[in-house]
Amino acid sequence: MDLAGKTVILTGASGGIGAPLCRALAAAGASILAVGRNQHRLDQLQRGLPAGRGHSVLADLGTAEGREHLLQAVRELQSPPSLLVIGHAQSAFGLFDEQDPAALEAMLQTNLVGSTLLIHALLPILRAQAQASVVVIGSTFGSLGYPAFAAYSASKFGLRGLMEALAREYADTSLRFQYLAPRATRTAFNTPAVDALNTELKVASDPPEEVAEKLVESIIRGEPRRQLGWPEKLFVRINGILPSLVDSSLRGQLSIIRRHAQRQGRPSPEETSHETVPR
Ligand SMILES: NC(=O)c1ccc[n+]([C@@H]2O[C@H](COP(=O)([O-])OP(=O)(O)OC[C@H]3O[C@@H](n4cnc5c(N)ncnc54)[C@H](OP(=O)(O)O)[C@@H]3O)[C@@H](O)[C@H]2O)c1
Repeated sequence: MDLAGKTVILTGASGGIGAPLCRALAAAGASILAVGRNQHRLDQLQRGLPAGRGHSVLADLGTAEGREHLLQAVRELQSPPSLLVIGHAQSAFGLFDEQDPAALEAMLQTNLVGSTLLIHALLPILRAQAQASVVVIGSTFGSLGYPAFAAYSASKFGLRGLMEALAREYADTSLRFQYLAPRATRTAFNTPAVDALNTELKVASDPPEEVAEKLVESIIRGEPRRQLGWPEKLFVRINGILPSLVDSSLRGQLSIIRRHAQRQGRPSPEETSHETVPR
């Protein structure tokens, strides 16, 4: 898709990946409707965009009211959107049986239920455009179930399934569905316990600006699916064909993963100053 002159709805625009993605989409010529829950962060973001090409709306996408509020703002746009990028999400790192059911429910509502219903609500507007695309920012854990990220993995597996099925359902239309999955990225999405786990397991972590550039590249090319990063790309392939190999590899890392996940459940005094709501 040629982004010049197109209107893009970007959820998670105020986030670590969302903000550079917003700037990269604008640099490719798009106008952005940036969605988030923090007015201050959205205002800051808007100031960095070319004049007249950035608008914002406050919406909690885990709620029906938030999604309706966004829909209203979309109906008021001068130029209707051709691209919806679902970039918002919350994480939930921890041992499954120690996690708070209410926090898990909120995460699933935000990541999976809210995103599914938002796509459903916006589909008629997108279908009315000559060319349109829905992009979900996925995760490696949407193709490879990872210990201590069980419910988060479920939310991303769900989104990957949704994109794949919709791409097939609308294959004979001009509407496209893309599932683009970053690997670990250096943003506040990852708590100190996740960062410590990644460091101990020597998991590479990308700068968000680089991820944003690759996402825009895939959006322009119209790629239906993409996993970023090597060896993650290989692990995802192996998991699809020979999952028992990945089972044994992760079993070997289980004690390390458990130790960091337990630390997540009981933050150290230095960490209590950080946000404690799962992101
Ligand atoms: N960082 C990673 O390691 C990594 C790796 C793979 C995939 N991803 C995926 O990349 C995407 C962006 O992640 P990130 O690292 O940029 O995370 P981030 O910095 O934590 O940003 C998350 C964004 O989601 C928004 N958000 C969260 N809950 C929301 C809700 N209920 N309603 C509306 N907006 C909500 C936040 O808005 P507020 O400003 O209102 O909080 C923020 O803009 C996510 O889909 C994530 O799953 C991240």
